[in-house]
This record gives sequence, C-alpha cells and structure tokens, in this order.
Amino acid sequence: MPPAPIDESTWQALGAAAEEASGHAYAPYSRFGVGAAVLTSDGKVFAGCNVENVSYGLTICAERNAVFSAVTASDRRPELVAIYITSDPPMVAPPCGACRQVLAEFGNPQVSFIGEKGRCTMPLAELLPVPFVSRPTPPT
Ligand code: THU
Repeated sequence: MPPAPIDESTWQALGAAAEEASGHAYAPYSRFGVGAAVLTSDGKVFAGCNVENVSYGLTICAERNAVFSAVTASDRRPELVAIYITSDPPMVAPPCGACRQVLAEFGNPQVSFIGEKGRCTMPLAELLPVPFVSRPTPPT
C-alpha cells in the first residue's frame, strides 16, 4: 500500500527539526553536515545528525540516528510515516543504501531529500524496491 500523503505544515515542522539537527552534526572529516527528522505514526518527531569518527567507517548517518532516536523513545516498534533530510551545505543527497535498509525495517515512509532536480519526495519503496528480508521460501 502506498504511504499516505503528508501535509505541507507537517513537512515544514520536519524540515525545521532536520535543519536544527544538521547544526549539531559532528563532521570534522567531511565538513558535510546532515540532518534528518522522522515522523512516526503516533505523530512524534525525532531528529538526528551525522556523527563521524576518525576511523571513518564508524561514522553514522543522520537518517539512522533519527530512526534510532525514535526506537529509543518508543515502547514498541515505531512505524515511520515520513523522513525529511537536509544538509549543510545544501547538496544533492539522497539517503545512502544502508539508511534505506534501516528505514525499511520500520515501514514505508515518504522520503523528502534533495535530488538531481531539487527537493523531491517519494515513498521509500521506490528508493529501495527490494529490501533484504529473511523468511522461509514460499512453498512451491
Ligand atoms: N551521510 C549521511 O548523514 N547520510 C547519508 O545518507 C549519506 C552520508 C553523512 C556521512 C558522513 O558524515 C557525511 O555524510 C559524508 O559522507
């Protein structure tokens, strides 16, 4: 089922939360700050920024930190309905593959990001049509 559309004032609130989070980015190596804000089905907003590490590989993206904040604050599995991603400086920056897989664990949110033609919104299932799953093969 496609995700429900998100109204403009909700996107504005998510955008403000993502912008605020990008200001907290710890990105001394790339100098590329990213902020993300997720909206859960119970109407709550959780933000995250990228946190880099001198080992580089241990860096965590803003999107995953936003999702992990939602999980941390939830009594049960959160259902994501939207995520807004922003960066400083503003750049073309769709969510990376690892973040897409993590988002897919918690639903099929509408994803707003800056693409090649400017800000765009699409369901996660369009960005990651075949996520990894692990379940028994159907009977033949
Ligand atoms: N980054 C994100 O925060 N989200 C993504 O989807 C891709 C990349 C961060 C990681 C790193 O701190 C910086 O952007 C440069 O790759």
